[in-house]
Amino acid sequence: MIKIAIFASGSGSNFQSIVEATRRGSLHAEVGLLVCDKRNALVIERAEREGIPVLVFDPKEYETKSAYEEVILKTLNECNVEFIVLAGYMRLLGSVLLNAFQGRIVNIHPSLLPAFPGKDAIGQAFQAGVKVTGVTVHYVDEGMDTGPIIAQSAVRVLNDDDRDRLQARIQETEHTLYPTVLQDLFESLKITNY
Ligand code: GAR
Repeated sequence: MIKIAIFASGSGSNFQSIVEATRRGSLHAEVGLLVCDKRNALVIERAEREGIPVLVFDPKEYETKSAYEEVILKTLNECNVEFIVLAGYMRLLGSVLLNAFQGRIVNIHPSLLPAFPGKDAIGQAFQAGVKVTGVTVHYVDEGMDTGPIIAQSAVRVLNDDDRDRLQARIQETEHTLYPTVLQDLFESLKITNY
């Protein structure tokens, strides 16, 4: 079974949905590590409850991105991690991780990219008055929410929506889309490796 690390900075609802999919057996993967850049993030509690090892680091304690990414890479290698899943990790990846995990890093973003990249994509879509937004899963490169798109799912903005209601439906979509896309990806990786 493929061993993955999830990178997250926040509440970790996507982390939770991925872990639950592995437990149900609909996602054939083992979550071997959580990497988190915020000491008080809720996702850390979720990982501890699930018995998943956690690497927490404070980027401010390092002089460069490469310096903390070397620490992360060492732990990923020690844990035999084969694939990186970003789930609300609000930080750009640098060359250390991008080179070590080429083609094996994906991200989820709460908009139909290339629309509304960056922070608060849901608020951006709401403010823009679009009638359809959604969720994108894509490979990660050095840009902000750029990289080849793997899958997208549309979410309608309803006339009586407020930002929170829209967010709830987008997150619901994320929680089904991400585990499904990951399972498809891991199956195709298995085929390529034989
Ligand atoms: C998710 O909506 C994810 O798509 C978004 O952060 C949220 C994390 O929620 N990611 C980005 O905006 C990436 N640019 P969670 O911590 O509850 O999974």
